[in-house]
Amino acid sequence: MIVAIDGPAGAGKSTVARGVAARLGMGYLDTGAMYRAVTYLAVRDGVASTDGDRLAELARAHVMRMRPTPGGLAIEVDGQDVTEAIRTAEVTAQVSAVAAHPGVRSVVTAIQREVMAHGSWVCDGRDVGTTVWPAAELKVFLTASAAERGRRRCAELGARGKPEPLADVQAAIEQRDHQDTTRATSPLRAAEDAVHLDTSELSVDQVVETIVAWVAEVSTGARP
Ligand code: DC
Repeated sequence: MIVAIDGPAGAGKSTVARGVAARLGMGYLDTGAMYRAVTYLAVRDGVASTDGDRLAELARAHVMRMRPTPGGLAIEVDGQDVTEAIRTAEVTAQVSAVAAHPGVRSVVTAIQREVMAHGSWVCDGRDVGTTVWPAAELKVFLTASAAERGRRRCAELGARGKPEPLADVQAAIEQRDHQDTTRATSPLRAAEDAVHLDTSELSVDQVVETIVAWVAEVSTGARP
């Protein structure tokens, strides 16, 4: 079983995907973390976010791995834990540009498909339902108002001890959304058969319960 949860930055995808995976005993796959890992390597090695060929080479040359931990998911590059390093403001600012290159996307998508081919996964991202795994049994497109997404991202950064002003966070989210939706290769968009869920007025638990109920409907054939 594959559950694809796509949507824009700050809609709550990772929190919800983690919650659904925990409730259903499924694995959690954070597809954005792989684009962040490539971006981390690019920053570290001084590769420009415009250099698609070298970025694709970087993605091919290093071993990216995800390891479930009690608190969530650890990301490793060549055996080094980069879980924190891929969340810096510098990486966040460049990741959309890096993820826009078709060469990078084909390497990362192939790795994701290899992982998803075995077992049951709840995956969050931008193009899981449209490109990575169009056969997903359930596709959810998670949204929230721009103001709410900004507030959530701010709270998340604060909780991680890296607070940033709301206006900056909101501007960065809008810029990332624009880049992610307008790129030529598998842009952020809802699959035609995705179920849309606006989480602006919902708690995390309500969203998790809604999706868990949808999965049950899929399993019993009540939801096509
Ligand atoms: O979910 P996130 O914020 O960690 O994702 C970081 C970036 O990675 C996002 O701005 C676009 C890109 N991304 C993508 O292009 N396709 C995915 N399936 C997931 C993320």
